[in-house]
Amino acid sequence: MAAYDLILRGGACVLPWGIETTDVGVRAGRIAALGDLRLDSAAQEIDARGLHVLPGLIDAHVHLRDPGDPAVENLSDGTKGAILGGLTTVFDMPNTAPSVTDKPRLDWKRDYINGTAWCDVGMYVGASMNNISELARLEAEPNVCAIKVFAGSSTGDLLIADDVSLEAVMLSGHRRICYHSEDEFRLQARKPDFTSGMPHRNHAIWRDVECAFLGTRRLMAIARKTNRPAHILHVSTAEELEYLAEFRDICTVEVLLNHLTQTDEAYDRLGGYAVMNPPIRDQRHMDAAWAAVRNGTVDVVGSDHAPHSRAAKERPWPDCAAGLTGVQTIVPIMLDHVNAGRLPLTRLVDLMCAGPARVYGALNKGRLATGYDADFTLVDMKKQRTIEESWIVSPCGWTPFAGHHCTGWPMMTVIRGQVAMREDEVLGTPQGKAVRFAR
Ligand code: DOR
Repeated sequence: MAAYDLILRGGACVLPWGIETTDVGVRAGRIAALGDLRLDSAAQEIDARGLHVLPGLIDAHVHLRDPGDPAVENLSDGTKGAILGGLTTVFDMPNTAPSVTDKPRLDWKRDYINGTAWCDVGMYVGASMNNISELARLEAEPNVCAIKVFAGSSTGDLLIADDVSLEAVMLSGHRRICYHSEDEFRLQARKPDFTSGMPHRNHAIWRDVECAFLGTRRLMAIARKTNRPAHILHVSTAEELEYLAEFRDICTVEVLLNHLTQTDEAYDRLGGYAVMNPPIRDQRHMDAAWAAVRNGTVDVVGSDHAPHSRAAKERPWPDCAAGLTGVQTIVPIMLDHVNAGRLPLTRLVDLMCAGPARVYGALNKGRLATGYDADFTLVDMKKQRTIEESWIVSPCGWTPFAGHHCTGWPMMTVIRGQVAMREDEVLGTPQGKAVRFAR
């Protein structure tokens, strides 16, 4: 008879080789055993019968805005939202105020994560015109998930727009680089065509298909030339998804929950609360995103959680801030997509566990397997619930998915063997740690 710290009993476990109803034994924060543990005991036992046990779900694309304006979002509230929403790990973007672009800021952020974060956190380092020669060193710093390049401008001042500078970035270091791919020159050239107060739908006309596709063609040409692995974030067009099939040797692909869930009717319904970069587009692109989920083109689904104050969202277009909250709602909505037959639960785990772990090289994450971190998301696939704005813990206080009815809901999150959330209740103290990556 063996003793564990924690045993999850009788859940339908989503293992790398399929779904099996089995027990999971945890010791010292790691998965120590999978199988029939009826004869074994543990200090804490969780009855997981009737629930699915997923590897802890990862949102590889969040903007927790810390440092920045804590009344809009901050590391504590953002990661609390993450565990309430069924995530155990997030990778946090560098376009804060100030941006995370050097070693002192990475060191500050690492210290701050330990003790403040409710879930585990990986850190992006931002590429800027001033730190290109430092990037090889910066991407090798502990707990860095990737370099982030804004090749088109969005929130904040990070931008590397021209081919010569992009090539210099790709020649500095060796890890996979993450790109915001929109062509900055096309964006700026067409900006004068649009004036303040025009309908929000113009966001998708200004930041059109060619803007994203041209950005991606340029990046792939340089990535091919330099042989530098790339990850194109939030791919939003049918054209890019088809094109990237020829670059699978050097390029991985992220699609956002919003681009799988919302079409351009949202502009009339939500106004500024539908504005994000790259934009929400028409049905043809949503259909292409789902086809790419089904044919394997997509490696990762993320939320691009990007809070802004209500005042900033309610300014007339194009002055309204771009970015939508999502860290707390991505899991319920993805589970609802599973129940609607749009993807199997095993593919969801591939997109939000194994996929991010593989693309970013996260160590000990993303897999229910002995020796891996004991991170679990327990979900009730039958539970019905409507997303309410009052449930959102981000201080900005809004979600574009208010009123969205979901079948399937996260019931519990366990982080390195500690129960962090159980049925809407946040437990204990912040236990989040900075994630380790292969460097
Ligand atoms: O809509 C967006 N918001 N897209 C981005 O690329 C950045 C993000 C933000 O930080 O607000």
